[in-house]
Amino acid sequence: MRFEPAERLSGQLRAPPDKSISHRAALLGAMASEPVRIERYLHAADTTATLEAVRVLGALVEEHPDEVVVRGTGLREAREPEQPIDVGNAGTLLRLLPGWLAAQEGRAFVLDGDESIRRRPVDRIAEPLREMGAEVNAHGGRFAPLEVRGARLRAISYELGVASAQVKSCVLLAALAADGATTVGEPARSRDHTERMLLRAGVGVHRNGRHVTVVNADELLLERVSVPGDPSSAAFMVVAGVLVPGSRLLIADVGVNWTRTGFFRILRRMRGIVLGDLEDETGELEAEEPTSDLDVAHGALEGTVVEPEEVPLTIDELPLVALLGCFAEGETVVRGAQELRLKESDRIASVVEGLRGLGADIEATPDGFAVRGRGALKGGRLDARGDHRLAMMGAVAGLASSEGVEVSGIESAAVSYPSFVEDLAALVP
Ligand code: S3P
Repeated sequence: MRFEPAERLSGQLRAPPDKSISHRAALLGAMASEPVRIERYLHAADTTATLEAVRVLGALVEEHPDEVVVRGTGLREAREPEQPIDVGNAGTLLRLLPGWLAAQEGRAFVLDGDESIRRRPVDRIAEPLREMGAEVNAHGGRFAPLEVRGARLRAISYELGVASAQVKSCVLLAALAADGATTVGEPARSRDHTERMLLRAGVGVHRNGRHVTVVNADELLLERVSVPGDPSSAAFMVVAGVLVPGSRLLIADVGVNWTRTGFFRILRRMRGIVLGDLEDETGELEAEEPTSDLDVAHGALEGTVVEPEEVPLTIDELPLVALLGCFAEGETVVRGAQELRLKESDRIASVVEGLRGLGADIEATPDGFAVRGRGALKGGRLDARGDHRLAMMGAVAGLASSEGVEVSGIESAAVSYPSFVEDLAALVP
């Protein structure tokens, strides 16, 4: 699909529902004993895989036009399916679900997915789950298909080797059925949606700096979840508004939990115009997921350096930092982002090669990239390599380029943002 240079973008749109929070709402719904009503559940490929997975495990899922209702099995009563659970392309489902399954005593589960999911490491969740007492086997010790045999779990103290919200969440879900309080330490703060939702579900959750403790529970009491707009999806529209000259956009209902808004802070540091009420870093654990409207306008940008501790707070938006860097004055550098190599594609290689093919002056480093801004991008062809965020970056690049961009694989946007192309087109006058 071709994305031609745009004159100026204008209009209003509502960000699609948050993918991370939708996954968690469906999983906690399945683990709860009473029905959970989820407003604005994201209907995209990844989160549909989660609804299917919890159905296979015995939860009843009703999909109404304005809400999804999940009638769960309770913490310890997931049904053993006859077939492998298909997680599709969803890394979050692959890493979070085993936390719950590990607590299903005497039952065994296999998780598998597409070709890309079979390249995403799961040893990072296997290690803590084994320490808690579950039996976990992965292909080659590291990849899906992943087999989990549930057991009576021990509470542990665990220090994560990487700042990964998926691994942290996996251990916290397992902790619910353990024999005491479990503590997880992270090397840097990562998104805390699981902690906030567990707190709202009546669980004892405590944060102390980089450590979070979850007390074991008998049941989850979560009546209703309202899913805010996804800041990672909104970020593509924000960047389109910032890069296309003369643009002015209003993006409504964006989740602004501070553990998700590192990108908007980086963009402001680059002198990008993004007005909105971002949550400030909180010491205490919050229960709510705050939202804000974002008001975005085109303007000149300056290069910046993204430091390692910022990376987990902007992990999925780093391709967009590279794109902004192409248009900024001076150099833009990202450091400490080696985790990008383990995403839906090797996002250091795919972003660098993709943008270079469009005329960017960018090079890869082992843990990130460096871009020398030229104030413009020529355009050309970009292969999304089956990676939704790369496809959407290519489309936005096209609108801001001088010659347009042809994206192969734009359909992969359906993984997280099914109406992406329509939403973008609606902003073009
Ligand atoms: C996610 C955590 C991040 C992120 C992913 C969603 C989550 O992954 O990249 O898109 O919902 O917890 P890691 O935990 O591997 O960093």
